Amino acid sequence: MPTITYENQQITLHDQQNLLEGLEQAGVEVPCSCSSGVCQGCMAQALKGSIPPAAQIGLSANQRRLNYFLTCQCYPKSDLHFTLTNNLESRATATLVEKRVLNQRVLMVRFKADIDWRAGQHVIIWRTETRGRAYSIASSPDEGYVELHVRRRPNGLVSHWLEHELELGGHCQFSPATGDTYYSPAMPGQPVLLVGTGTGLAPLSGILRQALNEGHHGDIYLYAAAGEPQYLYLLDELTELAQKHQALHFFPVVHRNPDQQPNLLEGDLVDLIPQRHPKLRRHLVYLCGAQPMVEVLKEYCFYSGALMEDIFVKTFSPGGVGG
Ligand code: FES
Repeated sequence: MPTITYENQQITLHDQQNLLEGLEQAGVEVPCSCSSGVCQGCMAQALKGSIPPAAQIGLSANQRRLNYFLTCQCYPKSDLHFTLTNNLESRATATLVEKRVLNQRVLMVRFKADIDWRAGQHVIIWRTETRGRAYSIASSPDEGYVELHVRRRPNGLVSHWLEHELELGGHCQFSPATGDTYYSPAMPGQPVLLVGTGTGLAPLSGILRQALNEGHHGDIYLYAAAGEPQYLYLLDELTELAQKHQALHFFPVVHRNPDQQPNLLEGDLVDLIPQRHPKLRRHLVYLCGAQPMVEVLKEYCFYSGALMEDIFVKTFSPGGVGG
């Protein structure tokens, strides 16, 4: 059995147990949110030993160079000595400045926070020292506030608290913004395809705003999908934005349109995107939402000509990144 050492403490792992589970069993409180390799809340840094490659999936080149890894994805095969990095010192205090219910499912909150970010990255809001939830950032840094679209859940650890308890002017703790799904200004004339379901619209609307603010002049196609029309949101804002910017093409999509509301596409994104975008050579692609949709479309986009390094994805799950 490999020897696993957290700072000065030996950790015993049982069969099929990951490092996060082993740490928690040993009484170490690890900051975490998703347990699925998405939020990066459980990040650690190896001091000695080798890191299983799966524990570094989704990390930036810089994070990998610094020997960072995710404890919830780490099944060590050899000796490993490490420390946790998502400590209290790295967090920033954020102040709630606006809160608005957008529809039956989505709460919009805006915070002032002294952090650096790119629209589309995510932050973790910590409800306690070790428990938090990750949310994608829907605003561009030049807007001066961090906007999040929170899926409203009756017993949600953070969502319920944000909606019903935290008052304007109240504070919470943010982790530094992380994630590599954000607008890359390398080719401002490149066509961009943005596809999202539910609060997957949050990172997309942020990426869109940042792209427009940074002078992107290639065509931008935005598809925002929901089951039924009442679950779509930001329709007026995005329609208005598309009227102002000729290069922006906005398509709200629903699975069902019982009252035949106008100006909505009806169907499934995994069918609609291939029908409407048969060729995706040179496109920048951003896919955000439920994993099955994201995986199918990622494969489609690659086989239709987009380079793998130009396809950015963000999958959402109840415990993972939301909004
Ligand atoms: S708890 Fe490990 S990445 Fe979210």
